[in-house]
Amino acid sequence: MTMSLDAPDETMLQQHFDSTIAHEHRVEPRDWMPDGYRKTMIRQIAQHAHSEIIGMQPEGNWITRAPSLRRKAVLLAKVQDEAGHGMYLYSAAETLGADRADLTDKLVHGQQKYSSIFNYPTLSYADVGVIGWLVDGAAICNQVPLCRSSYGPYGRAMIRICKEESFHQRQGYELLMTMMAGTDAQRAMVQGAVDRFWWPSLMMFGPPDDASVNTEQSMAWGIKRHTNDELRQRFVDMSVPQAEKLGVRLPDPELAWNDARQHYDFGSVDWDELSAVIKGNGPCNAQRVAHRKAAHDEGAWVRDAATAYAAKTSRRLEAKT
Ligand code: 3HC
Repeated sequence: MTMSLDAPDETMLQQHFDSTIAHEHRVEPRDWMPDGYRKTMIRQIAQHAHSEIIGMQPEGNWITRAPSLRRKAVLLAKVQDEAGHGMYLYSAAETLGADRADLTDKLVHGQQKYSSIFNYPTLSYADVGVIGWLVDGAAICNQVPLCRSSYGPYGRAMIRICKEESFHQRQGYELLMTMMAGTDAQRAMVQGAVDRFWWPSLMMFGPPDDASVNTEQSMAWGIKRHTNDELRQRFVDMSVPQAEKLGVRLPDPELAWNDARQHYDFGSVDWDELSAVIKGNGPCNAQRVAHRKAAHDEGAWVRDAATAYAAKTSRRLEAKT
């Protein structure tokens, strides 16, 4: 084989990329990648990061009202974990050339999305438990396969995130077990929260496969490993026995074990509702984005101070050398 000293042309680079994907090796930041792959990764990672950051709000709402010091400490730690997940993910997006300030700008101006689930209000303390159980449970179901996602920094970030999400789910389930062993009023609070969060949790997996514009290409690139409907089914199958153990009713009269399919059948998701929430018309979209924007604006002086300090430190270092 003759070696060329010329820069590799695009066909060779594409072949190398295709072979990396075919062999299930990781694509790393230094590697050549098609523009479409880079754009898709930035889109998904940014949306994921935004979801973690906006996702701090619904539960953050209960930190000051948690019923004991222990519950407050647990919730505070959990919400801080979500901030950490957002930071790893923004860092992963930066390895693709994205600018973090620009991503935040796009979020607050409605040019990038975040998960629909965080546009629902948290009306009772039981919502904290149900978010841990169902929302973090759905997140784990969706994200464990993403640990094998083809883009290295994303897949590696997901490994740590999934470990922490598992802990979040367990704390939610443990909180619900405690409430279900309490008074009738506490059990009613749990059931009310399950009634409100069950269907929105199923929507987290995205539109049905025949309406999912990105799935086919993302699976071909090894970014997604399963379709939206496959993961939604996995989540339903996982949740039904957990609900039985907990003693709550899932609000779906069509939910039934299908022996032939070896899966639970379930009712139709309200896709119009998902579409409205994604378009910004959910119960809390305006509030969530306004809160994020206010926090970002109020943090401007911290970013300015950190930038000035970094510049001063680097000038001092330069002066010494
Ligand atoms: N909420 C908001 N937007 C959604 C959505 C949802 N539940 N489901 C789909 N969408 C958007 C998609 O982003 C896409 O919009 P775009 O083309 O403008 O980006 C459009 O609807 C069509 O959907 P597709 O199925 O074609 O999109 P994807 O192939 O990207 O699949 C996804 C959607 C399954 C959410 C996928 O992007 C994914 O797996 N993302 C990574 C995980 C993630 O972001 N999870 C969010 C929750 S994180 C979390 O829950 C935090 C934890 O602390 C609980």
